[in-house]
Amino acid sequence: MADGLAPALLRVTDLVKTFPGLTALDHVSLEVRGGEVVAVVGHNGSGKSTLVKILAGAYAADGGAVVTEEGTELHFIHQDLALIGELTAVENLALYKSPDPDRACELVGRFGPVFDIEAPVRDLTPAQRAVVAISRALDGWTHPANVVVLDESTESLHKTEVDVLFDAVRRLAADGAGVVFVSHRLDEVLTLADRVVVLRDGRKVADEPVATLGHGRLVELITGGQAAMAHTHETTVRDGDPVLTVRGLRGGTVEHLDLDLRPGEIVGVAGVLGSGREALPSLLYGAASGAADELTVSGAPYPRRSPGGSLSRGIAFVPGDRARHGSVRDLTARENLTLPQLRTLTGRFGNLSARREHAEADRLFTTYQVRPARPEQRFALFSGGNQQKIVMARALRDDPAVLLLDEPTQGVDIGAKAAIYDAVESAAAAGTAVLVSSSDAKELLRLCDRVLVLRDGRCAAVLTGTDLTEHRLVTEGYGLS
Ligand SMILES: Nc1ncnc2c1ncn2[C@@H]1O[C@H](COP(=O)(O)OP(=O)(O)OP(=O)(O)O)[C@@H](O)[C@H]1O
Ligand SMILES: [Mg+2]
Repeated sequence: MADGLAPALLRVTDLVKTFPGLTALDHVSLEVRGGEVVAVVGHNGSGKSTLVKILAGAYAADGGAVVTEEGTELHFIHQDLALIGELTAVENLALYKSPDPDRACELVGRFGPVFDIEAPVRDLTPAQRAVVAISRALDGWTHPANVVVLDESTESLHKTEVDVLFDAVRRLAADGAGVVFVSHRLDEVLTLADRVVVLRDGRKVADEPVATLGHGRLVELITGGQAAMAHTHETTVRDGDPVLTVRGLRGGTVEHLDLDLRPGEIVGVAGVLGSGREALPSLLYGAASGAADELTVSGAPYPRRSPGGSLSRGIAFVPGDRARHGSVRDLTARENLTLPQLRTLTGRFGNLSARREHAEADRLFTTYQVRPARPEQRFALFSGGNQQKIVMARALRDDPAVLLLDEPTQGVDIGAKAAIYDAVESAAAAGTAVLVSSSDAKELLRLCDRVLVLRDGRCAAVLTGTDLTEHRLVTEGYGLS
């Protein structure tokens, strides 16, 4: 690995990038040597993606330099994946070459079951799209001493897919490549990286070998010493009538599913990519097409699901792909936060004054630690994690009867994660029935009263109480038990 003698393949010196009224990168320098995995971590909005975009040439820096070793190419997996939605996986994998379905099959097949590689990638799940983007970045290297840059590429992936990705990355590094790994998943950072660079408010505050860093120290560096939460959920057993009942639900990767959701309970959904886990929330909401033998909401049949119909029944949904589905990118953050949703429909929210709307936006910004604290900034200009906080804040604010969450804290920093968990728990305490689909086992353990583990589109196990462990989630997910 990094022995100090390998050449620097990439040298970043004194990089400065400002946006109106904000310094996103403040004299940042770093080096990536051949054979080395360098993690870049930091809170939401600390400048990680800005750094990646400058490396990619998508943004021009205001100052500083980026120098690569002769012959070294940079390959990117961007946070937004940068795929072309209308094109298929095969076509996205072949942007600069001729399409090769066999090769595409082989590439995506390394991560698990092959999905529909001839469908437009916009119809794939977030995890499937991540697999396409990763496959593209790892394919077609003409030179071993390249640098691959991964910006939060594992966020939608389950442990199996992450393992495949890490194996591939380690192999590239062993052959002399340099790797830049941007992530909020600190366990993965500690597992994969040789060295960790910590950004805080655009400044580099640490650049240390991973060997000298523990989880606690890393959290301290990221937060600047603010205490982070450590708390597990107390299982609550709810009885009473379910607010949502479904029998024989199917559609997408879901083959057959029965589910009862009671007011106040937090039910998790786990499973590997393609298990149905990632398809379930949007299927229940009616954002994806499917069918059910029976579906009732608050005791009344709800035969034809649609987003509008779900909304009017008090069902809220936070999609995994919020940048595209969860928001209006050209409105301000405040407008996104106060967009009329359930409340206009229930009549409680019809005459919100502009002043109250501003105060409400300020309050939500503080609660969820959105940075920069500028509700009047265009939504699209917030960093990925901050966009996620805004979309979550809105869904939780609406006091829904049923809250369907797909990867609720994907890309979110530790401080805001705690705020989101607290808000989900308060919503449940106030009677909201919550369904959380997540690829993050720790998140499910932290939040849920019980967890359905899906395998091949069906419920393979329901874990609760002392059975609800990370080990069981993994073994049931793979069918190893
Ligand atoms: N095009 C833009 N115009 C204005 N501000 C921007 C723009 N792009 C990024 N920013 C701001 O620059 C800062 C750094 O954003 P960046 O996307 O680099 O954060 P990040 O560390 O990748 O965060 P996350 O973990 O949420 O992905 C943020 O405050 C963001 O709002
Ligand atoms: Mg980012």
